[in-house]
Amino acid sequence: MTAEKNIVPHGHIISMHDRRELLAQNSKIIWFTGLSGSGKSTIAGRVEEMLNERGFLTYLLDGDNIRTGLNKNLGFNDEDRNENIRRIGEVSKLFIDAGVIVLTAFISPFKADRQLVRDLVAKGDFIEIFINCPLEICELRDPKGLYKKARAGEIKDFTGISSPFEIPHRAEIEIRSDQMGVEQAAEKIVKLIKPKIELD
Ligand SMILES: Nc1ncnc2c1ncn2[C@@H]1O[C@H](COP(=O)(O)OP(=O)(O)OP(=O)(O)O)[C@@H](O)[C@H]1O
Ligand SMILES: [Mg+2]
Repeated sequence: MTAEKNIVPHGHIISMHDRRELLAQNSKIIWFTGLSGSGKSTIAGRVEEMLNERGFLTYLLDGDNIRTGLNKNLGFNDEDRNENIRRIGEVSKLFIDAGVIVLTAFISPFKADRQLVRDLVAKGDFIEIFINCPLEICELRDPKGLYKKARAGEIKDFTGISSPFEIPHRAEIEIRSDQMGVEQAAEKIVKLIKPKIELD
């Protein structure tokens, strides 16, 4: 363990405020949560395109991509899932500090982990989007063939099958992705977050 008492953070001259002014935007974490196959990556990707078209600088952190790099040493047991989200939270916080709007697409099944990230940043800088889709539909979509493998017992700790998903009760936005298409979902999200990311 590092001797934290000997660590003294340096106060730098250029601040988050300066970077937000330079980019003319309010940086936020747009946190997508939901079952595998609910549509987090698909919808977040479309939201990112729409924001870019409107001149916002964004960065999308996506589950599998992060798990092949920064978090490639982590698995899917509860402890590793906690650490996965903790690291994503800290990286997202750096993006907020950089003035960039960060979109994240992780199942993030545990309420406590999502709360931990919410508490890392200033009030209002964490916008939780629950991509709500019944398990049966996600399983029918099965874009990566993972539900099939999980049902066959080839994947352990699979969310919705052998590991829990704790429903968010305080998400700022909820999308029923079984009831609306990708385009409509993305448009709804952009409409709701635009006033929050525009510089006052
Ligand atoms: N309304 C919808 N919204 C989002 N995706 C939809 C919708 N209708 C159908 N789909 C399809 O469902 C699939 C969703 O897969 P996607 O990879 O986005 O899920 P995910 O939530 O990112 O899953 P994972 O946690 O495994 O990464 C895609 O194949 C997408 O085309
Ligand atoms: Mg995904």
